[in-house]
Amino acid sequence: MNDRRKTARLSSRLRIYTGALATAWTIIVAVSLAWNLDYQQRSVSEAAQTQARATFEKDVLYRRWNAAHGGVYVPVTEATPPNPFLSHIPERDLTTPSGRPLTLINPAYMTRQVHELAAQGDGVQGHITSLTPLRPENAPDPWEEEALETFEQGETEASAVADYGGRPHMRLMRPMITEQRCLKCHGAQGYKVGDIRGGVSVSVPLAPYQASAERAMLTLSLAHGALWLLGLTLIGLGGRALRRRLHAQAEMKVLLDNVLSHSGGDALMATDLDLRILLYNSVAEQIFGYTAEEVVGQSVLDLHLKNKVDPQRLERALRCVRETGVWEYDVKSTDADGNERCVHSVVTPLKDGSGVHRGFVLRSADVTQRRAARHKLEQTVDKLERFNRVAVGREHRIIELKHEVNALLQQQGRPGKYKNTTEENEPKDVEDAIPERIR
Ligand code: HEC
Repeated sequence: MNDRRKTARLSSRLRIYTGALATAWTIIVAVSLAWNLDYQQRSVSEAAQTQARATFEKDVLYRRWNAAHGGVYVPVTEATPPNPFLSHIPERDLTTPSGRPLTLINPAYMTRQVHELAAQGDGVQGHITSLTPLRPENAPDPWEEEALETFEQGETEASAVADYGGRPHMRLMRPMITEQRCLKCHGAQGYKVGDIRGGVSVSVPLAPYQASAERAMLTLSLAHGALWLLGLTLIGLGGRALRRRLHAQAEMKVLLDNVLSHSGGDALMATDLDLRILLYNSVAEQIFGYTAEEVVGQSVLDLHLKNKVDPQRLERALRCVRETGVWEYDVKSTDADGNERCVHSVVTPLKDGSGVHRGFVLRSADVTQRRAARHKLEQTVDKLERFNRVAVGREHRIIELKHEVNALLQQQGRPGKYKNTTEENEPKDVEDAIPERIR
């Protein structure tokens, strides 16, 4: 009953551990998934930002190329009319020897035209703008206006995910600083060298990045889910296998205890090599006065010390078991009623399946009654033998006398009076008188 309760307690504790392990696993997987999803989400804006910066750098490069030439001439078309804001430039318009009209394109004009070309697609968009635009159509949108204001405060870059044309974009903007050479055309607006002249913004649509991130996130979620399920299954199966083994062991122990209790009145105790008690049957409880609960797991040496038994005796005994394979001894004691009792014990080695010495087995029996019975038997047999010797002597004498009577009768020609004068039916030995059972 006690064992069963202990097993039930262990089993429920095992169940709690399994649950805790499953919870820990769930948390680990959830944290990993959250981190991975967050990483994917962050990588969307990081990748878009990288593209925005690259686009911006390219813009700056082309504009610088144009500026290095002091503008470039292109044929006049409907889409590229002479720039009205350059009317004060003496060679704004030229004609080729064959009569084709050309006009000067300044860097900002070129940049704006390229941006307008890009605006027809749904890819990366650019915009050159200013808080006080020379050309009114170059005015900033609300996000750009805010960014330009932060540049006035000293910021050198603005970037954020913001709506552009109603869809989420990574927006990036850097200021354009007024230099000496800008004043030729922008000086009239009141700019000085070092002022923020305006800025160029780049907007990268997030949709393609988002789509690829979403695919990655779906794969990650599925992989994490599968991993989580696999982990839970393994934890569950492992826990169940452990619990089954626990119950099987408990069942085995009950069986073993039952077998031990059928020891025919012998106390049985088994220890490991360190003399720690492994098994202790109910007869041992009666003979030695300790319950199994008290001593299983304890060292025999400790018990001996507690009872002030000389430890050298134990050492001698164990040496003898190791050398000869057995040690026998008797312990005499007086019980509560003052009767002398005798316990006979045999110690033998405990070996495992491959014959390796693993511990010791002690078998003890209270031989008080057995010894007394034998003593009584010996005395009785002694008495019987003595009596028998006397009886046999008398018997021989009677037979002799019967022989004599028969001989005398024969001398007178008369038949013998006694038959059965042989010794065939007589007890030959005292052994015959003792029943087989007690011999
Ligand atoms: C040759 C004359 C000229 C020079 C030099 C010049 N710009 Fe401009 N800039 C213009 C004109 C013209 C526009 C309007 C073009 C358009 O959008 O059609 C303009 C537009 C701009 C804009 C767009 C906002 C607006 O005002 O419409 C910015 C920003 C700008 N210029 C910055 C600069 C900076 C910085 C420099 C010096 C590095 C510079 N510009 C030098 C002629 C010039």
